[in-house]
Amino acid sequence: MPLLELEEVGKHFGGLPAVDGVNVGVDDGEVLAIVGPNGAGKSTLLKLIVGLERPTSGTITFDGRRISGHPTHTVSRLGIAMVQQTPRVFPNMSVLENATLGAIFGSDAGGRTESEALAMGREILTIVGLGDRHGDQVANLNLHERRFLELARALAGQPRLILLDEVMAGLNDAELSASIEMVRTIRERFGITVVWVEHVMKAVMQLAERVVVLNFGRVLAEGPAETVMRDNSVVEAYLGAGDVNNA
Ligand SMILES: Nc1ncnc2c1ncn2[C@@H]1O[C@H](COP(=O)(O)OP(=O)(O)OP(=O)(O)O)[C@@H](O)[C@H]1O
Ligand SMILES: [Mg+2]
Repeated sequence: MPLLELEEVGKHFGGLPAVDGVNVGVDDGEVLAIVGPNGAGKSTLLKLIVGLERPTSGTITFDGRRISGHPTHTVSRLGIAMVQQTPRVFPNMSVLENATLGAIFGSDAGGRTESEALAMGREILTIVGLGDRHGDQVANLNLHERRFLELARALAGQPRLILLDEVMAGLNDAELSASIEMVRTIRERFGITVVWVEHVMKAVMQLAERVVVLNFGRVLAEGPAETVMRDNSVVEAYLGAGDVNNA
């Protein structure tokens, strides 16, 4: 049985479908990338999983339990965390305070003492490359550092599944390589399953075991990255969206 299963999942805003009859299963420990042109429904799909949006149809099951329709605080307690496209860090707190909050309020955080939470915050900050920034105010971080701080906060709650929404957009080559290593670490060291929306194809090719392509809210193709990205219908979808340079 897959860890996460989406069956005929749909989301309409007004009359328009953003997500339309999606069936996807994700195995425990897998790194699955979700790609597709702008507006294809990728962010909406992640929000449906984590309970930030309610599906208008279909069922989402996590670890054998139905989670669709449940609010995000319930879903996160079951072990699903999300790093959104726009970082949601607390700007007036320090980097370490932000990471520690995740360790206090995350999924299995019950019973952790403050010093344990701090130790966890420090360890996770090192993994995301912010190990020398503990005392900095969040206001002094740039966009990608804020994204990685949000990732640290999510990881500190020790989720079983993490949803990442374009965390690699706009990185330079060195930052991109470091980020790819980081996602590998998340998976290998913590055994966390990763569902990851990404436009940066170089990263998708290096990291994803399987790729799902969304177009107009529907699954257009699915399979290993090299096969899927050579698929004619996928190439056309990107060309049609004028998005090929972005890919
Ligand atoms: N809260 C909302 N209200 C109305 N329409 C929405 C809402 N959120 C998303 N949409 C619409 O749903 C569709 C899918 O949006 P979504 O943000 O999921 O796309 P995406 O694949 O993440 O795009 P991008 O690559 O640009 O991030 C778009 O047409 C968008 O305008
Ligand atoms: Mg998006």
